[in-house]
Amino acid sequence: MPANQQITELTLPLFDDFHLHLRSGNALTRTVSDASFWARRAIVMPNLQPPVDSFDLADNYRAEIIKNIPAERNFEPLMTLYLSENITTDTVKQAKERGIFAIKWYPKGATTNSEQGISSVQACYPIFAEMEKQELPLLIHGEVTDVDIDIFDREAVFIDRVLIPLRREFPNLKITMEHITTARAVEYLCSLPETEKTAATITPQHLLFNRNQLLVGGIKPHFYCLPILKCETDRKALLQAATSGNPRFFLGTDSAPHAQNKKENSCGCAGCYSGLNAPALYAQAFEEAGALDKLKNFACKFGADFYGIETENSDKRLKIIRKENTIPANLDYGEDKVIPLLAENKIHWQIERI
Ligand code: NCD
Ligand code: ZN
Repeated sequence: MPANQQITELTLPLFDDFHLHLRSGNALTRTVSDASFWARRAIVMPNLQPPVDSFDLADNYRAEIIKNIPAERNFEPLMTLYLSENITTDTVKQAKERGIFAIKWYPKGATTNSEQGISSVQACYPIFAEMEKQELPLLIHGEVTDVDIDIFDREAVFIDRVLIPLRREFPNLKITMEHITTARAVEYLCSLPETEKTAATITPQHLLFNRNQLLVGGIKPHFYCLPILKCETDRKALLQAATSGNPRFFLGTDSAPHAQNKKENSCGCAGCYSGLNAPALYAQAFEEAGALDKLKNFACKFGADFYGIETENSDKRLKIIRKENTIPANLDYGEDKVIPLLAENKIHWQIERI
């Protein structure tokens, strides 16, 4: 393999996206078509309105997604349930045989469509105990929602107040800290003994940008997501973690589209749309770290290993080519438009399916 600096082309298996929002209805034409171009599988987030918190809703949602997969694409949605009051220990007992891959816990009020989430972690303990027994992974939006905690501190406080005690209480529960954004999260994950079943997903925006991108020179709503972009030290720590070859860190785009008018609004929604070209965005970040050779395991292996599923092995491949191109200004999104991450900006990588 040439030195990282000289790599101008990578041919990789299709990626796994272990954190993806596909939305529903006519948004699926866009989201499923875009994601299935470069991803073979994706963990599909359940924060629809109403939330996907029953087997029937998950079955209907899966069917709706599958209907939107373009011909000749082989895409597998890995379905999750939303931890609301409707989830019981009985639900957890049946989850695996009903085709559920994991349960997602959004602390109430933490992010988009989290109003039905459960605010007290202790109230969830019986569910977590059953999940541990059933070996059903718990995916966590790791931010506290207390009004007195600064938005930039919410992840770090969550780790200390919620995650560490939770980890102690359920040592065998598989936990994924979704979309980590801080040096504190990296430090915590790196401090765990190898046997500890805790992992983290990392988004392209948190590898590429710090909060200046969002706030300097005018407020840029298309860079607003939750957890919010942090400072440069945090970004560097994430980039180091993602490119370190540590299998606890793997790819989850958190691609989360909102119609243009919902973002460009006096109270704009949180979420960045990276579904169009996430592999190119990750390549740009890994290139900055001189670590393009580390992208394959981050995107195609570590997550599958953590969840105990086979590494992707379809005969389709993804070619990531070093070639300057401009990200479109907007994309059709049902009757609306969605603005992709880095719209109208130049990027050095582009993707092809071969
Ligand atoms: C997500 C969404 O819009 O569904 N938004 C985001 O900013 N990431 C929800 C989430 O994952 O927090
Ligand atoms: Zn998300």
